[in-house]
Amino acid sequence: MSRLLEGKVAVVTGAGHGIGRGHALELAKQGASVVVNDLGSARDGTGSGKDADETVRLITERGGVAVANYADVGDEQDTQDLVDQAIGAFGRLDIVVNNAGIVRDRAVWNMTPEDFDLVIRVHLRGTWLMTHHAAVHWRSKAKAGEAVRGRIINTTSGAGLVGNFGQSNYATAKAAIAGLTLTTSLELWSIGVTVNAVGPGGLTRLSAGVAGSGGPIEPDQLGEDEYHPMDPAGSSPVVAWLASDEAQHVTGQVIRVIRDKIYLMRGWTEAVEVSSGERRWDATKLGTVFATDIFGTRAPGLRP
Ligand SMILES: NC(=O)c1ccc[n+]([C@@H]2O[C@H](COP(=O)([O-])OP(=O)(O)OC[C@H]3O[C@@H](n4cnc5c(N)ncnc54)[C@H](O)[C@@H]3O)[C@@H](O)[C@H]2O)c1
Repeated sequence: MSRLLEGKVAVVTGAGHGIGRGHALELAKQGASVVVNDLGSARDGTGSGKDADETVRLITERGGVAVANYADVGDEQDTQDLVDQAIGAFGRLDIVVNNAGIVRDRAVWNMTPEDFDLVIRVHLRGTWLMTHHAAVHWRSKAKAGEAVRGRIINTTSGAGLVGNFGQSNYATAKAAIAGLTLTTSLELWSIGVTVNAVGPGGLTRLSAGVAGSGGPIEPDQLGEDEYHPMDPAGSSPVVAWLASDEAQHVTGQVIRVIRDKIYLMRGWTEAVEVSSGERRWDATKLGTVFATDIFGTRAPGLRP
């Protein structure tokens, strides 16, 4: 069987459970050596533990190669050490999958600034820090004349792309990760690094309460050929393909993978254009312009 990631070295953050574990198992199955990062926190970001060990055990048991890392992705030094660990253990770094995440859901009037800050820290700062350290490494390789084929795969969410009640912290972070993906794809393209974002699905510790259909499923609880619509590893083959040399020319894309479907997402296009034909708009006339020529309705914000 030919494998997509033979000889590659990957870091997967938050890979001790759920979707990240699914990614780590798939990357290893495709031949990559994997640094399995996980802080081992609860779903609200409190606590820590060695949850990465179980994923490493599963990979090793299946004949793959992996080492554990217990870093906090929101910490600058921890993330530098994580990149250094991959290079130290396996001699190179090819793939960074930014997946670690927590939730602290509350309507905006009940959410505390701490709930906002911690969720932004893990998702957004964590993704940026890993991108930053990997970019510094790959740029120095490119400047030294090496052909770099770096891969960054970020994790966004439907909440960030279309909004979700009770998630003003999480949705903000996930929308920002889509924006970060677009900008860093432009910055890193010239040195051979692609940056894409995947919006996964699955019944995990984060989503089990929301989806309301029983406890979380870990990817390894399902048989190799067993189909489950909420399989946390459902998006992992797409992550592995984006990480491969086959996807060298795919960058700046946001792709949702839900059940057996792949959705290419496109946002913020110029949907309607109107011109005043004058130096400046007249504010007293804009109500009619917006209702008639732009929105085609008086109440564009209200959903049915
Ligand atoms: N489950 C879904 O339906 C769904 C949908 C869209 C996006 N996502 C995203 O998928 C990713 C994985 O979430 P999941 O659903 O598998 O949840 P999960 O709780 O099973 O896994 C998240 C992992 O991240 C780890 N983690 C938390 N904070 C960390 C930190 N500071 N440093 C390192 N690791 C940390 C946790 O310990 C946990 O193992 C998240 O980014 C989440 O937002 C999930």
